[in-house]
Amino acid sequence: MQVLESEQFAKPPTHIAIIMDGNGRWASARGLPRVAGHQRGAEAVRVVVESCRDLGISYLTLYAFSSENWNRPPSEVDDLMALLRHYLRREIVELHGNNVRVRFIGNRAPLAQDINSLIDEAESKTSDNSGLTLTIAVNYGSHNEILGACKSIAVAVADGSLSLDSITEEVFDRYLDTVNTPPPDLLIRTSGEKRLSNFLLWQLAYSELIFMDALWPDFTKRQLEEAVSEYHGRDRRYGARNA
Ligand code: FPP
Repeated sequence: MQVLESEQFAKPPTHIAIIMDGNGRWASARGLPRVAGHQRGAEAVRVVVESCRDLGISYLTLYAFSSENWNRPPSEVDDLMALLRHYLRREIVELHGNNVRVRFIGNRAPLAQDINSLIDEAESKTSDNSGLTLTIAVNYGSHNEILGACKSIAVAVADGSLSLDSITEEVFDRYLDTVNTPPPDLLIRTSGEKRLSNFLLWQLAYSELIFMDALWPDFTKRQLEEAVSEYHGRDRRYGARNA
């Protein structure tokens, strides 16, 4: 890929969020079971994490399992949970060795006990790392996250620990799962679908959105570089006007 001279010195996006879509279509195009697409998808996760480190990205957030994904057939849900379990067991040592801080967002309560323990272990083992922050969204849904924040704020107002007048956008941010994470500069969705699917709806207010045709298992460093290059060509005005 040709890199423009102006891009060579452009600051990379601080935070990239990705909706990893197209695993099923990747598999069916090859006459393989859907789980094969998810397996290749997990390998693409490895590649993208490494590429983000190379490109100097500070935060990467991946949508691994939405709160609506429970509606898939139980065998596919089991496959996705098994993959997550496998990823947590196999990758954490390497992620830790590469100074990656791992965090999870979403409602963990319905997840299996052993997956919850592996998540706790991954978060605590890597909590002091200072390189890439990798956030994995599991059983995550933005509506649920925002509703949870509203309820916690209502409780805080009712018990007097928070006054109504002090609720600003910054305060609201602190009640979301993504607390202490800057909003994504860039959202990428693969597979040609053009929707947000209940992902980071509050946080994406001013993000640049890039929809790519590549299916997630085919996503490599090249696709990431293409997306970053397109991002550099965007004019981010945050509702203001250029002088
Ligand atoms: C969407 O493709 C993808 C998912 C619902 C799961 C994403 C999971 C992975 C990439 C692997 C596991 C991740 C980690 C972090 C271990 P789809 O199945 O909806 O594809 P389709 O739209 O083509 O059917």
